[in-house]
Amino acid sequence: MTFDPLQLVQQDSIEQISSTASSDSPNTPSRRTFLTTSAAATAIAGTANFLTRSAHAAGSDIIKVGLVGCGGRGMGAADNAMKADAGCRLTAIAEVFYDRMEAGKLQLKKSLGSQYEVPEEQCFSGWEALDKILQTDINVVLLATPPGFRPAQMEAAVKAGKHVFCEKPVAVDAPGVRRVIAASALAESKGLCVVSGLCWRYDYGVKATIEKILSGAIGDIVTIQENYLAGTLWIRTPKPDWTPMHAQVLNWLYYRWLSGDHYVEQFIHSLDKAMWLHNDVPPVSCSGMGGRQVRTELEYGDIYDHFSVVYEWADGTRCFASTRQMKGCFNQTEDFIFGTKGTARVLAHEIKGETNWQFEGKKDKPSMYDLEHVALMKAIRDGKPINNGDYMCKSTLMAIMGREAAYSGQVIKWDDAFASEMKLGPDKPDWGPAPEVEVPMPGTYKFIDA
Ligand SMILES: NC(=O)c1ccc[n+]([C@@H]2O[C@H](COP(=O)([O-])OP(=O)(O)OC[C@H]3O[C@@H](n4cnc5c(N)ncnc54)[C@H](O)[C@@H]3O)[C@@H](O)[C@H]2O)c1
Repeated sequence: MTFDPLQLVQQDSIEQISSTASSDSPNTPSRRTFLTTSAAATAIAGTANFLTRSAHAAGSDIIKVGLVGCGGRGMGAADNAMKADAGCRLTAIAEVFYDRMEAGKLQLKKSLGSQYEVPEEQCFSGWEALDKILQTDINVVLLATPPGFRPAQMEAAVKAGKHVFCEKPVAVDAPGVRRVIAASALAESKGLCVVSGLCWRYDYGVKATIEKILSGAIGDIVTIQENYLAGTLWIRTPKPDWTPMHAQVLNWLYYRWLSGDHYVEQFIHSLDKAMWLHNDVPPVSCSGMGGRQVRTELEYGDIYDHFSVVYEWADGTRCFASTRQMKGCFNQTEDFIFGTKGTARVLAHEIKGETNWQFEGKKDKPSMYDLEHVALMKAIRDGKPINNGDYMCKSTLMAIMGREAAYSGQVIKWDDAFASEMKLGPDKPDWGPAPEVEVPMPGTYKFIDA
């Protein structure tokens, strides 16, 4: 069956969409575009006049924002949202842990000043916090919890009629990706915004460099090398009263049902640029390797600490993608692009070709984190919804297929990755037993559908 989000959205049934997998051939439009931009979709979006449903639309009105997840990024996103539009107010908070919610409230009250307008009755903790915040009159929800929770939260937010800022990655498995594709299509049909936390898409220097490459500044792209060679991230030392589930949720980076592994959680920023450089046409297959050489202790859950994956596109171009999280090693985060007439480095904003080029104003450019929210709030005010659903889902799946190639040692095809029914983590998390932790062993572990 060919994947057609529009047809299914017309039935307004997320469940039906999320159970639909693509079996189309690599170059059909349905593989190129998860979210259709057909005239019919535009017509649906046009008839769903969200301005009449939202009191905040007129220029001087208040945009009410709710934050889900009082962690590092959630605090940052709330700040970015308030800075983006003087009419924004933070009016509700949801956080699974009561103590983190209380700490978050204090910090936000201080940092947001008069834009903090959160009454006590709009602060929610526990597993139901997301459902409760969606019942308030917020216009926009900022989703900044671990990625494993994103598909359910995104689906609920769109069903509740909220504009969404959605941190990356959007899922940790293919069923989750399909659920977010469906939710994004539903958002489009309802005239709601979906803005992705894949922030480099909003960076002036990166955007200018990629646009130049795509307009032929280095000829045709032959090869891409994506490096994200970095040190380690934080770990929260477990306290005696933490249950295993408590410890996993707080140290979510190290559990693939929550983070997708650092290959998905962090490296997606680089993979997304390779996807963008292919005009958002996904690769047909990949193979790779990886392992867990340094971070072998139990506290590091079940993720690897290094990966090296090669992606191949239908036109023969390749992307060599390497990432590492280890202390004391060579670090480098850069996108190297090799073309028939030159080379480029995207993060350096530099092109060497028939005409050399360097983006000017690298030091003075505005923060890409602010720019995402400026775009979101402007789109809401102008009544011209932005929907980043297509690329955020494709890049998430590209990361998932690379991770699975390294875990299994198998060649993974895009279509198989997309159709996969392998689901990580519990359907409905609670404080019961934590999911079992087992490190995938290449050659033994199998990607379920390959
Ligand atoms: N775009 C970027 O550059 C960037 C940078 C950092 C993090 N991120 C992304 O932001 C997200 C959050 O990362 P972080 O660094 O803030 O993590 P964090 O652990 O600091 O914060 C996550 C918060 O969510 C809470 N939480 C967990 N499950 C919840 C649930 N079901 N309901 C409500 N609250 C829940 C946690 O208790 C925690 O307070 C991740 O997806 C991460 O990949 C993006």
